[in-house]
Amino acid sequence: MKVLISGGAGYIGSTVASACLDAGITPVVLDSLVTGRREFARGRAFYEGDIADGGLIDTIFAEHPDIEAVVHCAALIVVPDSVADPVGYYRANVAKSLDFVEHLLRNGCERMIFSSSASIYEAGDDFTVDESSGLAPQSPYARTKAVCEGMFADISATQPIRILSLRYFNPIGADPKMRTGLQLRRPSHALGKMIEAWEEGTPFQVTGTSWPTRDGSGIRDYIHVWDLATAHVAALERFGSFTEDVINLGTGRGTTVRELADAFNEVVERPIEVVETGPRPGDVAGAYTRTELARRLLEWEPRHTVAEGIRHSLEWARIRPEILG
Ligand SMILES: NC(=O)c1ccc[n+]([C@@H]2O[C@H](COP(=O)([O-])OP(=O)(O)OC[C@H]3O[C@@H](n4cnc5c(N)ncnc54)[C@H](O)[C@@H]3O)[C@@H](O)[C@H]2O)c1
Repeated sequence: MKVLISGGAGYIGSTVASACLDAGITPVVLDSLVTGRREFARGRAFYEGDIADGGLIDTIFAEHPDIEAVVHCAALIVVPDSVADPVGYYRANVAKSLDFVEHLLRNGCERMIFSSSASIYEAGDDFTVDESSGLAPQSPYARTKAVCEGMFADISATQPIRILSLRYFNPIGADPKMRTGLQLRRPSHALGKMIEAWEEGTPFQVTGTSWPTRDGSGIRDYIHVWDLATAHVAALERFGSFTEDVINLGTGRGTTVRELADAFNEVVERPIEVVETGPRPGDVAGAYTRTELARRLLEWEPRHTVAEGIRHSLEWARIRPEILG
């Protein structure tokens, strides 16, 4: 099988491409490199360009007529940037995705997997959600994902393409073979801040300690990026065996920020100091997913622990400069 991966030179897309390769699926990468890295496409069929560029999409399908499906990871993903530049974010994530699907339809592509996000959910009182939970996107970024899902549902209802949205929870870690990882040296999520505190010998700040969670800190569902990637392989292989169009990808276990810090300190030799501070604007208590649907439809389950995600993130942080300069 051959698949086109938009955003395949980014963090998740490049890991999906590696998981495809390891499973005998040939990836073709399309990426504008707006945040992606050329190094992550090395050794793979690679087209540098925009998902909205119809001529380029036509060329890709002419040169690879055996592409059977698309994994659409390309997007801008920084929540504060989406608040500062909503027009740019709707254009990049919604308008260009619409153009992209039009180009796919013209080229006879009948299957697409869309990278959606758990950030579109309204969390329930017990912090768990599943695919039928209510939606309440809290940022322009999250809303672009919700709008895309609605747009894709309308398109696949009457057009000859099926679109499966995979709603990712909180990816951590890197390819266990260290081919790819996060491009950023200083990721802004909790684990990124812990690594920064650890490298610099400064305290790690728990932002928000009065959420109604078991220890007051925010709760997330940290899924190893390799597990996320293998779920795409499972979805590509089982696409025809179910009709659902949304599946959550998480571990099914909530981890609070304090618990993540404890896990971090068990992995490293020199523990980080943990201090408390108030929530940042826009912070939410968080959520984790129930995983029955992914397990049943994809016959997939996450295999990596949070500790392994932390270990792989640390290992990637160490070798990242060798790979990305
Ligand atoms: N990282 C997360 O925590 C997370 C969580 C949920 C969902 N997602 C979704 O997963 C997908 C991948 O995210 P990521 O973390 O790998 O981000 P990333 O920035 O590493 O990857 C996105 C890739 O898309 C490319 N791109 C962006 N716009 C493009 C365009 N118009 N044409 C061609 N290429 C374009 C970028 O260059 C980059 O390589 C995104 O759709 C994101 O919304 C990410």
